[in-house]
Amino acid sequence: MRTTVGSLLVMLLGAVLEVVPATAVAADAKLVAQGKEVYTAHCVLCHGEKGDGKGLTGIIARYQKHGVVIQLYPRDFTAGMFKFRTTPTGYLPTDADLLKTVTEGILRSGMPSHEDVSLADRKAVIAYIKTFSPRWTEEEPGEPIKIGKVPSYVGTAASVKRGKELYKKVGCFQCHGLSGKGDGPSSATLKDAWGDAILPFDFTSGALKMGSGPVDIYRTFVTGLDGTPMPSYEESLSEKQRWDIVSYCLAVMQQGKPHLAER
Ligand code: HEC
Ligand code: HEC
Repeated sequence: MRTTVGSLLVMLLGAVLEVVPATAVAADAKLVAQGKEVYTAHCVLCHGEKGDGKGLTGIIARYQKHGVVIQLYPRDFTAGMFKFRTTPTGYLPTDADLLKTVTEGILRSGMPSHEDVSLADRKAVIAYIKTFSPRWTEEEPGEPIKIGKVPSYVGTAASVKRGKELYKKVGCFQCHGLSGKGDGPSSATLKDAWGDAILPFDFTSGALKMGSGPVDIYRTFVTGLDGTPMPSYEESLSEKQRWDIVSYCLAVMQQGKPHLAER
């Protein structure tokens, strides 16, 4: 082939274009390698070498409630499915979502907090757990759902009353039960995406897994908890209806009006 100015330019441009992604890949590989070390030190015992949740620890907890035997396992990262997100149902979580989970841990589940691990190491381990599922190279995380300030009517008697009606009307009671004890008509038959029995949250039992303030409750039923039967109500409820349901949940949790600091 005759070398023309044009083809030289193309070759030069090609060389320049190649350099950029190559360095990005090298930086990624370094981060992933660092993340693997963090994973081996802090996560592998539970989440397993292959990231399939089958570490040496095995079952984290086994108990019986409302006649259902619950066996709780560490998350299987190969499914690329996550419960605690700010993103709509069906979408991957953001890095900030994963950082929150890794940093704070998940209450009542045996997933510990990793506040003692440096921020750089926590970010690296997040890059590493993404290597377990192809979803992370095929898809982008969703756009976080914006949650506004908690309206002042949240927790008022009128809002709790409206929330209670909605809680019945849209079917929360089917799983969580009319009195919020997690013993609704469907509760005994629920399975998660891995085929394991799972119980709906018992609102009278104390803290939620991922924060117990009004915004946390709102986020739970707007995003849904992917991989569990807990659905997303993003499409079916108005903003006001959402906050009324929050009021009712807080009332069942006997939290009353949210503290000013949580608004
Ligand atoms: C003692 C066991 C244990 C250790 C150690 C542990 N985890 Fe977990 N992890 C769990 C359990 C159990 C769950 C599932 C909790 C649930 O679904 O309620 C979980 C869930 C998760 C989730 C999924 C959250 C979601 O939104 O679905 C992520 C991400 C995670 N762990 C990351 C990590 C990372 C990273 C480390 C190490 C830095 C780690 N875990 C260490 C037990 C553990
Ligand atoms: C089909 C059954 C089902 C329906 C309907 C349902 N939930 Fe759930 N919900 C669940 C299950 C199962 C869990 C437990 C998930 C877990 O522990 O991982 C849950 C958990 C929760 C949690 C606790 C989240 C946490 O961080 O621990 C809240 C709050 C909640 N649901 C609110 C609602 C509200 C409000 C509605 C109605 C708008 C509703 N749910 C409808 C099954 C359901």
